Amino acid sequence: GYLAAGQSASVLEIQEVQKAGPKEITILYGSQTGNAHGLAKKFGKVLEENRYHVTILSMNDVKPNNMKKIQYLLIITSTHGEGEPPDNALSFHEFLHGKRAPRLDDLHFSVLSLGDSSYEFFCQTGKEFDVRLAELGGKRLYPRVDCDVDYDETAADWMEGVLLSLKEDDREYAVHTAAATAEAIDSAYSRTNPYKAEVLENINLNGRGSNKETRHVELSLEGSGLIYEPGDCVGIYPENNPVLVDRLIEELIWDPEDPVTVNKDGNVLSFREALLSYYEITVLTKQLVEKIAQLSANDHLRELLSPNNSVKLKEYLEGRDLLDFIRDYGSWGESAQEFVSVLRKIPARLYSISSSLLANPDEVHVTIGTVRYKAHGREREGVCSTFCADRVQPGDLLNVYIQHNENFKLPANPNTPIIMIGPGTGVAPFRAFMQEREELGAKGKSWLFFGEQHFVTDFLYQTEWQKLLNKGVLTKMDVAFSRDTEKKIYVQHRMLEHSKELFRWLEEGAAVYICGDEKNMARDVHSAFIEIIEREGGMSREEAEGYLTSMQQQKRYQRDVY
Ligand code: 2AM
Repeated sequence: GYLAAGQSASVLEIQEVQKAGPKEITILYGSQTGNAHGLAKKFGKVLEENRYHVTILSMNDVKPNNMKKIQYLLIITSTHGEGEPPDNALSFHEFLHGKRAPRLDDLHFSVLSLGDSSYEFFCQTGKEFDVRLAELGGKRLYPRVDCDVDYDETAADWMEGVLLSLKEDDREYAVHTAAATAEAIDSAYSRTNPYKAEVLENINLNGRGSNKETRHVELSLEGSGLIYEPGDCVGIYPENNPVLVDRLIEELIWDPEDPVTVNKDGNVLSFREALLSYYEITVLTKQLVEKIAQLSANDHLRELLSPNNSVKLKEYLEGRDLLDFIRDYGSWGESAQEFVSVLRKIPARLYSISSSLLANPDEVHVTIGTVRYKAHGREREGVCSTFCADRVQPGDLLNVYIQHNENFKLPANPNTPIIMIGPGTGVAPFRAFMQEREELGAKGKSWLFFGEQHFVTDFLYQTEWQKLLNKGVLTKMDVAFSRDTEKKIYVQHRMLEHSKELFRWLEEGAAVYICGDEKNMARDVHSAFIEIIEREGGMSREEAEGYLTSMQQQKRYQRDVY
């Protein structure tokens, strides 16, 4: 069976294995009329497409001494006459059944036998190889399959089974090797010791005239040893806007070049540099105001902090920053050092990864919605998103780390259907999911719901989805452009239009993923699911809620919302 969700080996671990070298697989055929040979060639091609190294040999041509070196062996053989091996299999069959046959304890094998069920010794040769290889110590990679005259479909099923077993074997092997590497890697780069990743690409995905600016940023992880899986996040440490920093400095009496010690290790930066890259200056909190009050308690400030003003304080803090505060209540501290002593270190911002490491070795991609708005009479901006949009260019280095997210993971079974709801930048992890499933050759169906304001300017990664649809990696896609029509259409409206089919997918065991805005979208999408399950499953509201809860418990309803 497959690994359980929690213990699934990551693709990057598989990538590690592939770096160590793909499996060498030997296909031996015993063929009388050419059918087994034909299947061997056909399957060989499939394996090569899946990046395995394949050697195809007639059983005549196996050198006895080489048998012990084969780790992965597939036997495709027909049966001749009254249960005898075909001519080109006779010598190998005899050798293997004789006294000089070697122990094959490292061998993984699987047998496909061709035959005719109207004969008494149906598939006899295949059965004999299967029993004998196990006697010699070999392990069955996949159970033997016996085909009748009309063999095509049965043979194809065997191939698929063998392929999945090989991949599963890759995963299991990878879990062991990667567990060790992961430990070493964890200690190398982390939230507290970020990696300086080179920016490879930074483009705006939105067209001219859009209300939105969504950056697609590609970073190099080369040499970092950092690995990730689809569903994981990148933490990015931003720098504050220098314009804001300089305005702040204008309000203060200290020299921007004054040295300040920023951490316990005694690192020294200039005051300006510290405000730029080390301290958070854009968020006002009650804790911060209280600390400031301890250094400079003017009447104004005391008043703001008085217990019966708590509502007013809350209102004041909302959407204001350090510059507002200084302009309204003045500065604090005796020195630049004392001024920064109340500030906290700027935290990294987390972004859902929009790439698969398997598809993009040594790279990680993120999809960042730029945040700009006006509040309290000033233009405001999201620190990290505008940093990335306005002040980061290819060639620059960004401080990053990987934040693993066990609660947003592709099903371990590649055949499990998936339903993805990702309006706006919520679509990011689904790009990663689809890249990954394409690389793995996963067979499971997939259905993406995407929404944005306008088709023409905001259809993020449009051409990529088109290609994935053409290739059948993505099975279905429904879009909701909310501002192209008079009445707003959102993803949940599209879901409700397809409620019958959606419910059928759920009943087939599909896993649901929701990514994006928490407050409105995720809540409304949740209600839409309840409605669909009620309607199509003939359930009461309570029953429908129970249905979703049990999906959640089975990790078939996962959310990455912000
Ligand atoms: P709007 O901006 O026209 O309101 C990505 O931001 C898309 O999500 C936009 O098309 C946006 O529409 C839409 N959106 C806004 N609120 C939503 C909600 N509650 N549920 C689903 N989509 C929503």
